[in-house]
Amino acid sequence: MTDFRKELAETASKLATPGKGILAADESTGTIGKKFASINVENTEENRRAYRELLFTTEHLENYISGVILYSETAKQSAKCGTKFIELLKKKGIVSGIKVDQGLKVLPGTNDETATMGLDTLDAMAKEYYGLGCRFAKWRAVLKISTTDGCPSEQAIQENAWGLARYGTICQANGLVPIIEPEILIDGPHSIEVSQKVTERVLASVVKALQENNIFWEGCLLKPNMVTPGSTSGVKATASEIAIRTVTALSRTIPPALVGVFFLSGGQSEEEASVNLNAMNRLEGIRRPWFLSFSYGRALQNTAVKTWAGKAENLAAAQAALLVRAKANGEAQLGKYQGTDDQSAKESLFVDNYKY
Ligand code: 13P
Repeated sequence: MTDFRKELAETASKLATPGKGILAADESTGTIGKKFASINVENTEENRRAYRELLFTTEHLENYISGVILYSETAKQSAKCGTKFIELLKKKGIVSGIKVDQGLKVLPGTNDETATMGLDTLDAMAKEYYGLGCRFAKWRAVLKISTTDGCPSEQAIQENAWGLARYGTICQANGLVPIIEPEILIDGPHSIEVSQKVTERVLASVVKALQENNIFWEGCLLKPNMVTPGSTSGVKATASEIAIRTVTALSRTIPPALVGVFFLSGGQSEEEASVNLNAMNRLEGIRRPWFLSFSYGRALQNTAVKTWAGKAENLAAAQAALLVRAKANGEAQLGKYQGTDDQSAKESLFVDNYKY
């Protein structure tokens, strides 16, 4: 078996370039369809291609974006000029990643908790996408908090932790840096204290499973949720409290050998996602040996997709909107983000039980 460790470590370090993060553009056909429906754009292959071309050809994107996560369809598409998207991104120095999970299925014996599908075909898929030029991968596991229903159950935590670990090592065996994503949904009335406890419990299980599967930590990335109050708790936490609780949860569970933590935005507004990341990177007094950055979908694309609205004449304005958020988050990675007064960036992006 090829030993990819040197390459994995190099890829992980490249993604963790100071001032940069990851653009998650791997919405499945169904999910992007919902985005398009909100701007009255038909969900055709050409419209999906045109939208992704808009994102990837944004001038100076590479100043703030080190990697882009692609959906399988996108990874095989090309820009209008004929250049494959993966090639186009590579020319800008941006690493292509691929979503390799096959979505969620209800886990029988639980209260509608889920397991992530796709392990059976993963080895072949990883080989194929490495061949196409991808160098990292994403697999999203989802857990929910419900104190009245006992969620997340130990069963769901174990299943998802083991699945993430199996995915992680299969990717590494094929030269892809795995992004380990145990997303604990923001949905629910729970407090920020409960969110922190559950996050620590889930991360501890994930780390144990990764260790038991002999993960190569130096070639592995984590994509967790931030620790926030539940979406219907009626409580807004400050960026400082979110930063302290999130970094505390990480410092109690995640080995320093892991290269980088790239947060998901999970329904936070564009501005909240930037401000909270910034607060983490300014935090003093809690040890944080890893690179802390972003791997946002909604919180990078929301204003851009609305500005575009499917019209060619809006392309430049939409690209400018994407660049504004990419730059904000790049600065937040450095702890240098000053904030914005733009109200559209403050709109909540929460969607009940969001599917990716
Ligand atoms: P959001 O930033 O929209 O939560 O999504 C990021 C992602 O890739 C989730 O899997």
